[in-house]
Amino acid sequence: MAGIHIRNIEDYNEAYALSINNPEKFWEDIASEFQWKKPWTKTLEWNFIEPKIKWFEGGVLNITENCLDRHLESAADKLALIWEPNEIEGSTLKYTYSGLHKEVCRMANVLKELGVKKGDRICIYMPMVPELTFALLACARIGAIHCVIFAGFSADSIAGRINDCGCSVVITSESMSRGNKKIALKTIIDEAIDQCQTVEKVLVFADTKSTVQLKKNRDYLYIDLASNASDVCPAEPMDAEDPLFILYTSGSTGKPKGVVHTCGGYMVYAGYTFANVFQYKHPEIFWCTADIGWVTGHTYSLYGPLLNGATTLIFEGIPTYPAPDRFWKIIEKHKVNIFYTAPTAIRSLMCEGTEIIEPYDLSSLKVLGSVGEPINEEAWHWYNENIGNSDCPLTDTWWQTETGGIMIASIAGITPSVPAHAGLPLPGIQPVLLDADGKELEGNDVEGYLAIKFPWPGILRTTWGDHERCRLNYFDTFKGYYFSGDGAKRTAEGLYRIIGRVDDVINVSGHRFGTAEIENAINESAHIIESAVVGYPHDIKGQGIYAFVIASSKDSDPELLKKEAEEMVMKYIGKIARLDKIQVVSGLPKTRSGKIMRRILRKIAEGEINNLGDTSTLLDPGVVDLIIKGVV
Ligand code: WTA
Repeated sequence: MAGIHIRNIEDYNEAYALSINNPEKFWEDIASEFQWKKPWTKTLEWNFIEPKIKWFEGGVLNITENCLDRHLESAADKLALIWEPNEIEGSTLKYTYSGLHKEVCRMANVLKELGVKKGDRICIYMPMVPELTFALLACARIGAIHCVIFAGFSADSIAGRINDCGCSVVITSESMSRGNKKIALKTIIDEAIDQCQTVEKVLVFADTKSTVQLKKNRDYLYIDLASNASDVCPAEPMDAEDPLFILYTSGSTGKPKGVVHTCGGYMVYAGYTFANVFQYKHPEIFWCTADIGWVTGHTYSLYGPLLNGATTLIFEGIPTYPAPDRFWKIIEKHKVNIFYTAPTAIRSLMCEGTEIIEPYDLSSLKVLGSVGEPINEEAWHWYNENIGNSDCPLTDTWWQTETGGIMIASIAGITPSVPAHAGLPLPGIQPVLLDADGKELEGNDVEGYLAIKFPWPGILRTTWGDHERCRLNYFDTFKGYYFSGDGAKRTAEGLYRIIGRVDDVINVSGHRFGTAEIENAINESAHIIESAVVGYPHDIKGQGIYAFVIASSKDSDPELLKKEAEEMVMKYIGKIARLDKIQVVSGLPKTRSGKIMRRILRKIAEGEINNLGDTSTLLDPGVVDLIIKGVV
């Protein structure tokens, strides 16, 4: 994709200017670098009021042809995928482009055999194994809509997603290894499906046949079906605006929303941003540590690299298993050139000291990336100096599940990279900062609500089954804009610095949870009458979860109540939303109209009790003192 590369600051300036002055021409040039079965007839149709956004209408394509088939002529033997297992003594697996192509086609044929058709929703609940990548691409090959559920969500969470998207087939694994734990995924899936009507078939990966419990006429072992399946499968022609995948993400309202991305626009945006932000050059090895269960894994472990014919490394384990040098070992072993991880991982590895890094040769590294939450200056410097040897451009990439790909970031080595600043918008991205009345803040050195005023190809199109929810969540707060839910500063130099969420979303280790979602889970307990959850600064996780709970009976044992609250969160959301602090309280600060004053609870959770602001308008101001007494 030679024509789309930014190689110096002049290229950036030129691309950015064109993308503002003539966005359609700008994106047409980029889109034409991809392989289309039929060219599009209308580049863009949009309004942010309904909202209605269509890119490359009339165009027909299949993203897997762009990820795989297109590279076969010139790079069939190039490595597409390297897999590093959880166990250090386990075997690394490698797939060339032609090998991956065959695996994807084989699995696509297995799915067809199970009756999967274009437009069907397929939920995928799997560990980070190569078969997970085959599963996503196999769905895309035949036009089924994949919906990956991170393998840390509980049966209830899975059921909620399956029921919301009306999924007919689930792809899972018997179990998953994560550090020194083994988790029985299939059992969790069975429990989830008990609450669902739409699931007809379950496709199961297993190491040993004998141990899996299979339900007759519903569950099938992959290995049984794959042995007869052909490794040739034509790619389904997809309209540019056909959905490619659904990914559930939390917002400020109760239930997670199914963010919908489409085939054409997502492909163009994933491919373009990968090529430029990381300045990938053949035959470099790119490693994004995110799980494919999150959007970062979708766009930068899988689609972005493959669209560019790159080699992508995926890792099943955790950074600290069997020892906290695992990342550095893998970088040395595979001579990784580009490393993309999250601030929470960096902070947890910082605690281990630099002696642990010293034995490793990290000189293959050329570019470092960060994603998921604001990276604090200390972590930025540590990452830059100890991992990058102060010699690798560091790109702090701001984006969201809803944006499909990176929006604001340093183009590695080309546009400014300042500690704790995401930097300049990528070409095609028009960010604005708004005041509370929705007025654009002009000039630099300003702070406000971060919104985007013009569509880009990777923007979400809807939330599955409920377009109004999409409108209300992203397009209603500030009319005519896409609102990110984040606050940001624009510095004197015009660089963006993300401050964090301004809505009721907590970002724990780079993962989003709505406070209402967690409260709903806790409130399921018969012993808890009400709860309020807020985020507070956490050294490793960025934000921790602080829950205030009220017992339904005066003589409940506070320790049991805390356990109960924890269990509810495990049951209804999953282990990843673990509560960090739980405080049993007798009441919550509320306005006279009954609204919980989270601002006050946040201050208490942060320990800022001398700075609570005006509490006199509360229904019962005394309640604040009681809570504080419990805290200190
Ligand atoms: C936060 C992850 C600051 C932000 C790709 C956003 C960031 C939310 C950064 C999206 C960053 C992500 N600097 N904040 N570089 N990257 N965020 O949907 O609050 O899981 O709104 O997408 O993470 O999280 P999501």
